Amino acid sequence: MNHERSRDLYDRALSVMPGGVNSSVRATRPYPFFVERGDGGHVIDADGNRYVDYVMGYGPLLYGHDAPEPVQSAIQKYASAGPMYGAPTEIEVEHAEFVARHVPSVEMIRFVNSGTEATVSAVRLARGYTGRDKVVIMQGGYHGAQESTLVEGDADHPRPSTSGIPQEFAKHTLPVPFNDEEAIQEVFEEHGDDIAAVLVEPILANMGIVMPVDGYHQTLRDLCDDYGSLLVFDEVITGFRVGGLGCAQSKFGVTPDVTTFGKIVGGGFPVGAIGGKSEIIEQFTPAGDVFQSGTFSGHPVTMAAGHEYLKYAAENDVYDHINRLGEKLREGITDICADQAPEYTVVGTDSMFKTVFTREQPAMLDGQCEAGCQQRPDCPRYDHCPKTGGDVANAETERWERIFWHEMKEQGVFLTANQFESQFVSYAHTDEDIEQTLEAYKHAL
Ligand SMILES: Cc1ncc(COP(=O)(O)O)c(C=O)c1O
Repeated sequence: MNHERSRDLYDRALSVMPGGVNSSVRATRPYPFFVERGDGGHVIDADGNRYVDYVMGYGPLLYGHDAPEPVQSAIQKYASAGPMYGAPTEIEVEHAEFVARHVPSVEMIRFVNSGTEATVSAVRLARGYTGRDKVVIMQGGYHGAQESTLVEGDADHPRPSTSGIPQEFAKHTLPVPFNDEEAIQEVFEEHGDDIAAVLVEPILANMGIVMPVDGYHQTLRDLCDDYGSLLVFDEVITGFRVGGLGCAQSKFGVTPDVTTFGKIVGGGFPVGAIGGKSEIIEQFTPAGDVFQSGTFSGHPVTMAAGHEYLKYAAENDVYDHINRLGEKLREGITDICADQAPEYTVVGTDSMFKTVFTREQPAMLDGQCEAGCQQRPDCPRYDHCPKTGGDVANAETERWERIFWHEMKEQGVFLTANQFESQFVSYAHTDEDIEQTLEAYKHAL
């Protein structure tokens, strides 16, 4: 493949943008390919190379790069009508009503402009509502570029995970290992009366994809109820992808107090949202006294695109299609790993997938989860599959970044560039795409 034009563009970009990119994860080594355009489930780069795209904008593009006709015409209509006003519009109400109808935890919703803004606002809301300062997060979880959650270490020794955040901020955050019921119980026993919220991705989706063990979310629910803390599900990735229109909370049968959204709910445009019980969401200004505001919040083009996205999914076989292909892909990769890399763990659910380059293999593979690790205690891989962010961090992460990702790219398959971030099947992907992808895995693994 020729990448000359991408290299030249990156050369120019490095002079005017830090690291040559506007979001750090895009700076793949030695240089990223620059995208010229999308085409269904594919992207075409600046040198004319075509890739099957499983990055899908890091999650928002449920339909791939060709939105269904009703989405496209809504975007055109709202873009040419204004496109924004600083006054409310009907489409915001319609979109809010739709989300409230479908997502168990949502009675009311506030739309914002990014997943980060949603989680920042959710943390402020939880602190304002409970009058407490501490928030619990999962080690390896990701909630965007915000001060309260860019924290690592453990509950006894939290510290900022980036420069620029004072230790004085980090001390209010309590990181715990995901899926560890004992650890969360201990944290509540020690700090329970000071905990405003537990913030958790229902599935760790920025850390290789880690599913919850049976009962974990119910434990979080019970502890939050016992101590008067809020359970916040960060469904920025899983929202309207896992569990269909009911989101991951409906799949797991646990209803959080607050849910944060992003990505799909904006139909491919910048978006975030905070939903939950009216009693809590009405604490936001102007109804309540937790300040929250934004020039672009509830942008009509975003609302129209997001609303048509979800309506189309309600009326068509979207989730059947993407979940079937997701399963086919995970099954195929599981078979390839059994032959070529039995120590690796295939993970994911619905239309999400990843392969974690775990280092140890079980004595036998018969009876293992066939289409992605589901944390089944009777699976022969159960003691070896990742259960925490730390388990994923201990995998062969360098191999992904330095060898595997490049090999897949050269075979025409665009995956997320590190071991940690999830990949996504879209409605535009086809059985042929899956078959081409499996051939590439056979070659690259
Ligand atoms: C679970 C989760 N929360 C929050 C965010 C932040 O969203 P954004 O990048 O739109 O600010 C992300 C981004 O990937 C995410 O995966």
